[in-house]
Amino acid sequence: MAGGIVVGIESTAHTLSIGSVDGEGEPTPSFSAFFRPEEGGIHPREAADHHAENASTLVRQLLDSGIEGKSVSAVAFSQGPGLGPCLRVGASVARALASKWDVPLVGVNHCVAHIEIGRQQCKMDDPVLLYVSGGNTQVITRMAGRYRVLGETLDIGIGNMLDKFAREQGLPFPGGPKIEILAKQWLDENSDANLDDYILPYAVHGMDLAFSGLYAAASRLVERGAPLGAVCWSLQEHAFAACVEVAERAMAHTGKRELLLGGGVACNQRIKEMANLMSNERGAIAGIPPARYCVDNGSMIATLGRLQYLNSGPTSFDESAVKQGLRTDETQISWP
Ligand code: ATP
Ligand code: FE2
Repeated sequence: MAGGIVVGIESTAHTLSIGSVDGEGEPTPSFSAFFRPEEGGIHPREAADHHAENASTLVRQLLDSGIEGKSVSAVAFSQGPGLGPCLRVGASVARALASKWDVPLVGVNHCVAHIEIGRQQCKMDDPVLLYVSGGNTQVITRMAGRYRVLGETLDIGIGNMLDKFAREQGLPFPGGPKIEILAKQWLDENSDANLDDYILPYAVHGMDLAFSGLYAAASRLVERGAPLGAVCWSLQEHAFAACVEVAERAMAHTGKRELLLGGGVACNQRIKEMANLMSNERGAIAGIPPARYCVDNGSMIATLGRLQYLNSGPTSFDESAVKQGLRTDETQISWP
């Protein structure tokens, strides 16, 4: 096995992506197709149809990049959590490739994959992870053989909240990056801006977070005539500060000195800046993986698949059913 390539397939939500890691565990950039709903949120069935339609093109791109079945040691796939119909497409592609190449299957936990690619890319040993994506917002760290969730959103994920607010304001999906641009433009033009003029509710609840109140209050601010750029700025400041505050408390409680960011929202410059500031003030370090490894990607699935395969072996065909509601702390960590 050591020396073999592991292929990884990601299909939990809007992204179908196929990537790989080489025999040393070094990831290569993935081939991806993104489902963009024409309007409204993601419909699981439509996203799954998109994945099914694009799967053969991505497999072709992987093969054209020089990967041959005979050099592949295992095929990993996102087993959960995610949208059932989407997960099933990824699992089917993985089963088909594993059977064609006659190699084992490895079903992995999508959330844990975000952590492991981040640890690998940022060369971190034992970080607190601030995982901020579309569907998930969690503060996680490794304790007693599992990644434990120390705090998380009690309602919607931070990225979904940003996307929902953006959609309501007529901005195309995904809304997070558009909000970042509008916030920055507004701040550049209004350097004397005062956050007190655009105050929003506090999103921290003990070690947990909640974003639907923030979303509703931001929408009301726009309705009352506040400039959209100002509200985007305020929404980012409030939502990101809440996440960084919970992460800081987790670092204080556990005594850990590394903060790792992961998930698509970690592409945002402002949350990176806040994470760096907080870490520097504590004498800790913040690590932020390259954007292509923050968003959902097949290479992160291959990265975790390789670790899991080397340390606890493959997933049997019978155990390879998808697990929509798989939690971060359900997965036993068998690797260093
Ligand atoms: P999950 O990991 O929960 O399955 P997902 O599949 O939605 O989530 P990702 O690809 O990790 O996840 O992240 C997508 C999210 O990241 C979207 O909500 C998008 O708006 C957000 N996002 C991407 N870039 C930025 C940015 N620059 N600023 C803010 N949010 C961003
Ligand atoms: Fe993700």
